[in-house]
Amino acid sequence: MLLKDRVAIVTGAASPRGIGLATARALAAQGARIAILDLNEEAVQRAAGELGKGHRGYRCDVSSHEQCRKVVAAIQSDLGPVDSLLAFAGISRSTRFLEVTPEEYEAVMQANLRGTMNICQAVVPGMIEKGGGSIVCVGSIAAQRGGGVFGGTHYSASKGGVQSLAKAMARELAPRNIRVNAVAPGLIETDIFEGKLTETRKAEIAATIPMGRVGQPRDVADVCVFLVSDWASYVTGVVLDINGGLHIH
Ligand SMILES: NC(=O)c1ccc[n+]([C@@H]2O[C@H](COP(=O)([O-])OP(=O)(O)OC[C@H]3O[C@@H](n4cnc5c(N)ncnc54)[C@H](O)[C@@H]3O)[C@@H](O)[C@H]2O)c1
Repeated sequence: MLLKDRVAIVTGAASPRGIGLATARALAAQGARIAILDLNEEAVQRAAGELGKGHRGYRCDVSSHEQCRKVVAAIQSDLGPVDSLLAFAGISRSTRFLEVTPEEYEAVMQANLRGTMNICQAVVPGMIEKGGGSIVCVGSIAAQRGGGVFGGTHYSASKGGVQSLAKAMARELAPRNIRVNAVAPGLIETDIFEGKLTETRKAEIAATIPMGRVGQPRDVADVCVFLVSDWASYVTGVVLDINGGLHIH
């Protein structure tokens, strides 16, 4: 039990086949009490219910600064001081560069970059008060190599922003005993691709990956458990690749 009685917030964790819920399960298995945050009330309650007693679900659109503040206050009163934040809420769009409208650019930035900033700003004061904490943000291979497989330019830019945000927070918050890291997943089989990841496409992509397979949410989840746990007590400001060798620096 690496995380016994710790309180962890996981955003974007109501998607049944998503990275967030897989991570929430892995954290709970290590003894943490989880606050699931996502857009839909029914979905967050279902996800929290699946984890079992002691876990809670909260509806929250992370692109709203106000909602983030309110939900974190509610979590602190329901579950106690927050030890860890895993900020996974995000959307992906594959629209080609010249077709990206200002509205779509804004939507991607709001969910991915502003959303990460908002939830971190809401959580950090409590961590400072309790004397420390750990945060994991979600970047992407798309930020590292000019696009992933499906993500467009605006998606790549938003994830580059998240990775830089994590590094800058790590530097500023280290004296407060708050560690901040990011993960950069390669292609992970979830519902974010909205039907584009067909079996044929998956096999084609797998053939380009040195490990010969696309990633599964659990591949990311276990790394995130490590990063928030005391096993990573001297690790901050890293962007950790989880990509089966698809991108080796
Ligand atoms: N799947 C991949 O290959 C991959 C690769 C690199 C990075 N990522 C990132 O990992 C994260 C999780 O993705 P996933 O693949 O599990 O996708 P997913 O679609 O299964 O899960 C994303 C979740 O975020 C929620 N969400 C979206 N906008 C939100 C908002 N404004 N407020 C609160 N919740 C919101 C969605 O409702 C959904 O439940 C995303 O940030 C994604 O960009 C995924």
